[in-house]
Amino acid sequence: MTQTAFDEINYWSEVKLEIVRRYAEEYSKILSAQKRPALHHIYIDAFAGGGIHISKASGEFVPGSPLNALLIKHPFKEYHLIDLDSKKADSLREIVGNRPDVTIYEGDCNALLLDKVFPRAKWEDYRRALCLLDPYGLHLNWEVIFTAGQMRSIEIFLNFPIADMNRNVLRRDMKKVDPGQVARMNAFWGDESWREVAYDKTADLFGYEEKVRNEVMVKAFQDRLKNSADFEYVPDPMPMRNSKGSVVYYLFFASHNRIGEDIVTYIFRKYRNKGAL
Ligand SMILES: C[S@@+](CC[C@H](N)C(=O)[O-])C[C@H]1O[C@@H](n2cnc3c(N)ncnc32)[C@H](O)[C@@H]1O
Repeated sequence: MTQTAFDEINYWSEVKLEIVRRYAEEYSKILSAQKRPALHHIYIDAFAGGGIHISKASGEFVPGSPLNALLIKHPFKEYHLIDLDSKKADSLREIVGNRPDVTIYEGDCNALLLDKVFPRAKWEDYRRALCLLDPYGLHLNWEVIFTAGQMRSIEIFLNFPIADMNRNVLRRDMKKVDPGQVARMNAFWGDESWREVAYDKTADLFGYEEKVRNEVMVKAFQDRLKNSADFEYVPDPMPMRNSKGSVVYYLFFASHNRIGEDIVTYIFRKYRNKGAL
C-alpha cells in the first residue's frame, strides 16, 4: 500500500467517524432482526477514502468509515464503496481482500450511485440502504440527494461543506466569484435558489449586500431536504467544529424513518459540543 493512500485526519473527522459508526451499528442490528418482510440492507460509502487514516491528534492509525462499517457486529448484506482516487481505491481493495459482499468502484460517485448502486436499493425489492455522502467540499450533485429522497428506501448522512461555500462562493461581492465555483454551488444546491438565501436584501452604504449567518444557509438546506427531496425526517444537523470552535461543516442526517431520526438525535446530542478540544 502506498503512503499517499492515508489521509491525516483532524479531531472533528474522528467525531464524525464515531457518529456514523454508532448509527450504522444500530441500523444494521435493527434491519438484520427484521422479519416479515425480511429486508436486504446495504451500506454505501460514496466518498469512501482509502479505508485507513492517521489521526493528527495521536499519530495513530484510525479506521475510516468503510472499515468501520465492515467491522460492525451485525453486518450489512452488501457494501458498495466508491472513490475517485485510484490510490484510495487500491488501498480499499487491499484492505478488503476478496469479500464477496463488497464491491469497490473507482470513479465519480455522482454517476456511479445513480447508474449502478441506487438501483440495488429499491423499496419495492424489500431493500434498504444507509448511504454516507462525505466529500471534502462541493463535490456532490443534488440529483444524488434528490434521488435518494424519492426512493424512500435510502437514509443519508451528508456533509454540508459550509467552509468551502464561504471560502469560494459566498463572497461579499458576488461579481468577483469565479463562475466555475458558482457552477459547483448550483450543482450541490440543485438550482440557484441559494442566492436568494445567502444575502440580506438590504444593501449597505456601498451597495454591498450582507451575507447571512451560516445557520440561515443550513436551515434553508434542511428545508430543501424535506420539501424538495421529500425526506420525512431531517433533524437539526451537527456542527463539526475545529479546535478554535469554528464550524468546518455540518453533518446532516435525512431519512424516511422516525426511529432513525430518534437514534441520530440521541447520538448527535452526545457529541454536539465535542468538536472544540
Ligand atoms: C472526506 S474523504 C472521505 C473520508 C471517509 N468518508 C472516512 O470518513 O473515512 C473524501 C474522499 O472523496 C473522494 N472523492 C472526491 N471526489 C469524489 C467523487 N466525485 N466521487 C467519489 N469519490 C470522490 C476523495 O478522493 C476522498 O478520498
